[in-house]
Amino acid sequence: MMLGYFTSLLTTTVTGRPETFWMPEQASTVAPGVDFTFDVITWICYFFFALVTTLLIVFMVKYRRTSPTMETRGPTHNLPLELTWTIIPLILVVVIFVVGMRGYLDLMEAPEGAYDIQVTAQKWSWTFEHPVYGAIEVGELTVPVGQPVRLLMTSKDVLHSLWIPSFRVKMDVVPGRYTSLWFEATKTGDFLLNCTEYCGKGHSEMSAMVHVVPLDEFDAIMVKLASEYEDMTMAQLPAYAINRLYNRCQSCHTLDGSDSTGPSFKGLWDRVKSGNQTFTNGDTLSSLLGDATEYGVPENYIRTSLLDPQKHIVQGYLGSMPSFQGQLKEKQITAIIEMFKHLDDVIDAEGNITVNSDGTPKN
Ligand code: CUA
Repeated sequence: MMLGYFTSLLTTTVTGRPETFWMPEQASTVAPGVDFTFDVITWICYFFFALVTTLLIVFMVKYRRTSPTMETRGPTHNLPLELTWTIIPLILVVVIFVVGMRGYLDLMEAPEGAYDIQVTAQKWSWTFEHPVYGAIEVGELTVPVGQPVRLLMTSKDVLHSLWIPSFRVKMDVVPGRYTSLWFEATKTGDFLLNCTEYCGKGHSEMSAMVHVVPLDEFDAIMVKLASEYEDMTMAQLPAYAINRLYNRCQSCHTLDGSDSTGPSFKGLWDRVKSGNQTFTNGDTLSSLLGDATEYGVPENYIRTSLLDPQKHIVQGYLGSMPSFQGQLKEKQITAIIEMFKHLDDVIDAEGNITVNSDGTPKN
């Protein structure tokens, strides 16, 4: 059985093992090594579980009390037995240590020339910045296949943890400091990325999709991502915003009118335009709109809500929204406002997104 296992390990090291009942597929260079360590430990446990249980049953039968007056004198000492149960476990833990340590060192040290991505975790979304291209992705991470990628990560609020099961990598993301991890994807496709540190109400929603693409496509995707909105007309912006920017809002703002951590986006523009909004301090939005008021036009109120969200908290909500200051370009703020104005053109009655980011209908 073990031999068969080792041969299958050798043959699948290149492509990675497909999904099994216990494990997701292997899709990175480190995945076979991590699974190997895991399997070594698991098989040792299986073996000793079987051995101990078998001996337990055998001894129960063999040494059972056969008469009420029976007395036994247990052995007090057995040097060969004691040496055996000391030396064998010692060898086993040394083996586990060596196998584990090799994998650990490999995981900790990114190869020279790895492609850098800056990751920011925030309740409850992931932002991925590609400094080489000046491109930002939210809720989605595009990486090239067959290329070492290093994630430099930090958190804006609480402790999060980034986990990509198919790549077998996981690392805490801590506020006030940087942590890093690296991987090299071995196959193209989409893989789930999760937050694996309980970080509050939206923790289970804090996931992203990792898109692994061929190297030549990767470059084109990044170049497009970095500047696609700059050349868009106003009419194109809602489709762009709902697909590229809404990811960042979705864990708190629904599209179907249902309540969440923040108000639903459905009907938001109508509520804002009419000033039909009361804040926790008792003020109403209508008093801030119109000539010679703080905001004048309602667009300014939305702009402030994005950049300084604590300024006005809508009644009934806790005001847990982070600021997007410095994270959105002017044109992207415009895109979000346009998205609110034309929301019904990009979602259906149930709140499903109906268009792609280039405006073509979703099938
Ligand atoms: Cu972030 Cu759980």
